[in-house]
Amino acid sequence: MKKRTWLSMLLVLVLMFSLLAGCGSPAEEPAETGEPSEEPAEPSEEDVVITVAAGAVGQELELTQMAAQMYMDDNPGVVVEVLDTPDLAQDRLGLYLQFFEAQSSEVDVYQIDVIWPGDLEEHFVDLYEYGAEAVVGEHFPAIVENNTVDGRLVAIPWFTDAGLLYYRTDLLEKYDLDPPETWEELAQQAQVIQQGERDEGNQDFVGFVWQGDAYEGLTCNALEWIASNEGGTIISPEGIITINNENAVEMIDMAATWVGTISPEGVTGMAEEDARAIWQGGNAAFMRNWPYAYSLGQEDDSAVKDRFDVSPLPAGANGEPAATLGGWQLAVSRYSENPEIAADVALFMASYDMQKMRAVDGSLNPTIMDLYEDDDVLEAAPFFGSLYDVFTNAVARPSTASAPNYNAVSTAFFRAVHDVLNGNLDAATAFEELELDLQDITGFDIE
Ligand code: GLC
Repeated sequence: MKKRTWLSMLLVLVLMFSLLAGCGSPAEEPAETGEPSEEPAEPSEEDVVITVAAGAVGQELELTQMAAQMYMDDNPGVVVEVLDTPDLAQDRLGLYLQFFEAQSSEVDVYQIDVIWPGDLEEHFVDLYEYGAEAVVGEHFPAIVENNTVDGRLVAIPWFTDAGLLYYRTDLLEKYDLDPPETWEELAQQAQVIQQGERDEGNQDFVGFVWQGDAYEGLTCNALEWIASNEGGTIISPEGIITINNENAVEMIDMAATWVGTISPEGVTGMAEEDARAIWQGGNAAFMRNWPYAYSLGQEDDSAVKDRFDVSPLPAGANGEPAATLGGWQLAVSRYSENPEIAADVALFMASYDMQKMRAVDGSLNPTIMDLYEDDDVLEAAPFFGSLYDVFTNAVARPSTASAPNYNAVSTAFFRAVHDVLNGNLDAATAFEELELDLQDITGFDIE
């Protein structure tokens, strides 16, 4: 954790330095040959610079840079710079909070997580005052509602996410198995395939990879296990603390048995990209991840190209499959010196054409409903159509109910789960303590 805080501070310093020195723009080197440079010009005094703080998981950064370039092509006089921010949600939040604390105008547009509108709304403008009314009806209403606080649209939806099960079609065929429908089935199949592949000489092979590091990704994974076993959503939408129940306890104890058996010991230190590296190297039978991993898995350098598919996640013994709702939005800083242009950039980046590009090239799920009927999108990511219900029925984390304390709630939750996964506590004890912590944080009643 200390290392990450330090890293965030370093990032801020680097950014400040690069902005001061004017070297953050894409064009750094003057052309030495006298030939006209292909690179865009450095921002001149009159140019308006809009900085977009964005993610870099998978292909996100490249896709955002492409959109920035397209905006600049059509808008001379505006330079859009994309600031690469840390992968882990909590680290990214830490960086943003430093900018907010300083009321900094250095970042104009922020890529914000679906769980943050309630916690961060005071730092963003109301996009309805900047033309969002005209486009908001194209987006999934539930996400628009999520991004609306006291009638203010604090962010425009950009892409949505839901947890999926990635499975190896070749290996399920080899071992004569069908995609698992329950967690118990998944564990059995993972064990069989892992043993079989190791016996054939691949000692690195593992059954199941997922996101077990102590961070927001673990909250997402654990919520899926619990919700799929009728164990609720930590805190109910009505603001009641529900986490300490038998169905929740049962699932977390079960997940703890996976660590060091069907999943590597190191899974409790893994985030999305760690799991994807193992999976894409051909060394896992199953992976829990978000849709972005699909297009990368299908690239030529991927060992699993044409050898995998995606399905809904398995269900617990007492429930139905559940996928956590994820996704990212674009918000305009209240401290921006150019909120109008910043809002125009945000609305452009979240527009139909840009969401289409991101869906086709990066399998990032659109928030614009019509794109789920677009032939090019469905050809590139067929599961957008076949798993449409998974995306529209995904389970929300309790961010609206617990705002502005969601991050504290999630941190207490993933720490408790992490303790159980590491074998430090059993889930019954961990959740008994957790419900009291959650009461301190939120002041809510316990069920
Ligand atoms: C993905 C989701 C986001 C979630 C994060 C956790 O980026 O879109 O909502 O918080 O993963 O790692």
